[in-house]
Amino acid sequence: MEKIILGKDAGDLKKYGDLGTAMIGRHIVGTGEDAHLTNYVYVDVSRPHVILVCGKRGTGKSYSAGIFVEEIGRLPDSIKENLAVLLIDTMGIYWSMKMPNERDAEILKRWNLKPQALDAKLFVPVSFKDEYEESGIDVDATFSFSPMDLTSTDWIITFGFSPIDEHGIAIERIIKKVKEKMKDRYGIDDIIDAIMADERIEKRIKDSLANRFSAAKEWGIFSDEGLVVDDLLAPGQISILDISHFTRTSGAWSVRGLVVGLLSSKIFTERLMARKKEEYGLMTGQMKKTIPMVWIMMDEAHQFLPAEGETAASGPLLTLIKEGREPGISLLFITQMPNKLHPDALSQADLIMSHRLTSAKDIKALSSIMQTYMLGDIQDYINDLPRMKGAAILLDDNSERIYPIQARPRLSWHAGGSPCAIKEKGLLDEE
Ligand SMILES: Nc1ncnc2c1ncn2[C@@H]1O[C@H](COP(=O)(O)OP(=O)(O)O)[C@@H](O)[C@H]1O
Ligand SMILES: [Mg+2]
Repeated sequence: MEKIILGKDAGDLKKYGDLGTAMIGRHIVGTGEDAHLTNYVYVDVSRPHVILVCGKRGTGKSYSAGIFVEEIGRLPDSIKENLAVLLIDTMGIYWSMKMPNERDAEILKRWNLKPQALDAKLFVPVSFKDEYEESGIDVDATFSFSPMDLTSTDWIITFGFSPIDEHGIAIERIIKKVKEKMKDRYGIDDIIDAIMADERIEKRIKDSLANRFSAAKEWGIFSDEGLVVDDLLAPGQISILDISHFTRTSGAWSVRGLVVGLLSSKIFTERLMARKKEEYGLMTGQMKKTIPMVWIMMDEAHQFLPAEGETAASGPLLTLIKEGREPGISLLFITQMPNKLHPDALSQADLIMSHRLTSAKDIKALSSIMQTYMLGDIQDYINDLPRMKGAAILLDDNSERIYPIQARPRLSWHAGGSPCAIKEKGLLDEE
């Protein structure tokens, strides 16, 4: 049966065929009673892309994102070693991918697939390691940042201030002072000392800032060492970065935004340098070791890159969206509400995988990647989807076509389903 391959241009398709692609599911032909599964559908993962996965709650978004991760994990070594995956886990569900999906062995068989554990590394914030291990989850590594990694704007946005309010202005001033005085070695306590010692800042502001900076120590993400990007982005490595924890600290999403923002900008600069080395290697034949191309994936993307307002991740993510192609950075955004996601993420997406959506505003948002189709068409395709978990439409910017598909079952365990009071008999839950 002919394969449907999306996301490759004609040149790559001719040269590489289905090499470097992810098998996502099967094409659905016909509607209602007549609907049946036909050709297998593949999506390119070997070149930089921006992919958006959306759909209402419980329609299979997180599950589908996991399929992309598994497929990258299954690529031949010669391709895989040029890639690294960074899966930003906002709900703490993806660690389960390290277990095989035994409960769906029967269903997998029908797809000629077998349960298989994912070879991945789980990274948790440095201060939460023990807590994880106490609950029986194996942690492979921790991540942390140095307070010096943060610009004054990072602090201002994460604390929820504005660069032009009195708190924002004071932070700008203090960080500049601390940097000048301490050069390249300072911690949060040095920042607090500098605040208290500053004569130009009012007492009221001083106290509130000192409080904020003290609270930042509780975020659990700071250490003296700071971040080593190479550990996260080893060739062929799939890194699951759990940032679900900050629920207890106030402003959980702003801390998550900070983490994503810091990572994104570090990865961008590292990949820019790597790209230079690679070009140099091509010209001279002297290949140097570099960090691989990166896939950054995140759930709840509208929380990081909202259509309205700004988070500490907004700027860095927009840079990746606009300039990430050249340094080889791919993005996969998951959201329930495409309408709430920054319009640049939508307009730059070259592939959208949309599970069932009902809000007209959200469906309208999707039409921004494709001029060929009218809003009504997209709506019709979504309405015609069988009411099965994992049914979705793929909007491919390259071919300007829409494909209804059934996403394939997962090889590895998915922990994200909603709990059910009626105990299952081993069948997949139907909606
Ligand atoms: N392709 C699929 N095949 C079979 N079951 C699926 C598929 N996609 C999702 N499901 C089922 O639907 C449930 C909800 O999917 P999930 O991805 O967690 O939803 P959400 O859209 O809220 O992220 C999963 O736990 C799984 O049981
Ligand atoms: Mg989900």
